[in-house]
Amino acid sequence: MRTQPDTQFSLRPGIVEFRWGHPALDLLPVDGLRRAAHAALDRDGPLALSYGPERGPACLIEQLQARWERQQSTSLSPEQIMITGSTSQGLDMLCTLLTRPGDVALVESPTYHLALRILRDHQLELVPIPADDGGLQVDVLAEVLTALERRKRRVSLLYLVPTYNNPTGVTMGVERRTALTGLAQREGLLILEDDPYSELWYDNPPPPSLYSLSPAGPVVHLGTFSKVLAPGLRLGWMLAAPEIVHRCTSSGMLESGGGVNHLMAHVAAAFIELGLLDRQVDLLRSTYRQRRDRLLDGLARHLPEGCHCIRPGGGFFVWLRLPPGVNSDALLPIAEAAGVSYVPGTRFCAAGGGEQHCRLGFTFLRLPDLEEGARRLGNALHGRQAG
Ligand SMILES: Cc1ncc(COP(=O)(O)O)c(C=O)c1O
Repeated sequence: MRTQPDTQFSLRPGIVEFRWGHPALDLLPVDGLRRAAHAALDRDGPLALSYGPERGPACLIEQLQARWERQQSTSLSPEQIMITGSTSQGLDMLCTLLTRPGDVALVESPTYHLALRILRDHQLELVPIPADDGGLQVDVLAEVLTALERRKRRVSLLYLVPTYNNPTGVTMGVERRTALTGLAQREGLLILEDDPYSELWYDNPPPPSLYSLSPAGPVVHLGTFSKVLAPGLRLGWMLAAPEIVHRCTSSGMLESGGGVNHLMAHVAAAFIELGLLDRQVDLLRSTYRQRRDRLLDGLARHLPEGCHCIRPGGGFFVWLRLPPGVNSDALLPIAEAAGVSYVPGTRFCAAGGGEQHCRLGFTFLRLPDLEEGARRLGNALHGRQAG
């Protein structure tokens, strides 16, 4: 019997876990990846098992280039693309190469809590920029930049998730995107656009990415296969100005080890070539749309007056505002006793805030569990135990 866990997520019996930002286990494409692995090894066997080029293999770079040009209607040259070991690795590498301890990293607030961990690993000082129902507040960003400049602080980057944000589900509109990229160009501010969710839209496609609005810089776009294919692949990509790609590919780590996750990059390329990624994304969209709707219906039915949700147009999360005076950290043990769990909003805020919010992940749970979880959360808020 195995004594060590095989997954990062954990499930507790009797608890509906809204905590996880994980794809549905039953939709992970085991058969498709088996086919793709066979195809990649049949075609490229020894090459796929060699050290790979630092930027990643041409077979995947070409697929990503074609996919991007189709989706964003802007052109991309191969020199702007680098394969990563997923967004977490790409972000960590960019911090290693482009920041110095003590620099300021501007972060939207709320934002993906584990990116904050990575930025803190590099001893960056996190300065939050508030976001509202329209995303990052660009006018506040401009004021903060002026104040930091006056204090002669070195600002190394701005990190944000502008499309189907984790945790809020909010998407920045085109106007704010354009204002943001314009400001970044004027100020020479490097933007890290973390974008795991833009293909997972449930109503209408999202606006153009920050990268496609400002391809000459200063935006770096981080894409990942974790949410549309499988997180266990540990595979993603970075789009950036050729100088930044070159800075990464000439790092000691890549020169020593070659491109990251070279074999899996061949498998992902074959998966796309076989037409399986488009089919998988269609399946995820229709399944997750239903799951989102079931959760929102359940919340509307079971939660007391004073609760409010932003309806996410895509992505993995519903951001629930609790009634005035209810603190989500304090509610958590009561909710867990009632058989439901979530991530409290405070985790997503670099310097205070989020006390009245919960992040509910809806992709990982089946329809009856989503309904039951909403009912139990209602019970917890009504101060009762599950019956
Ligand atoms: C906004 C955001 N960025 C990055 C990640 C992690 O991505 P990866 O698996 O590519 O490291 C997640 C996963 O939840 C996420 O929500």
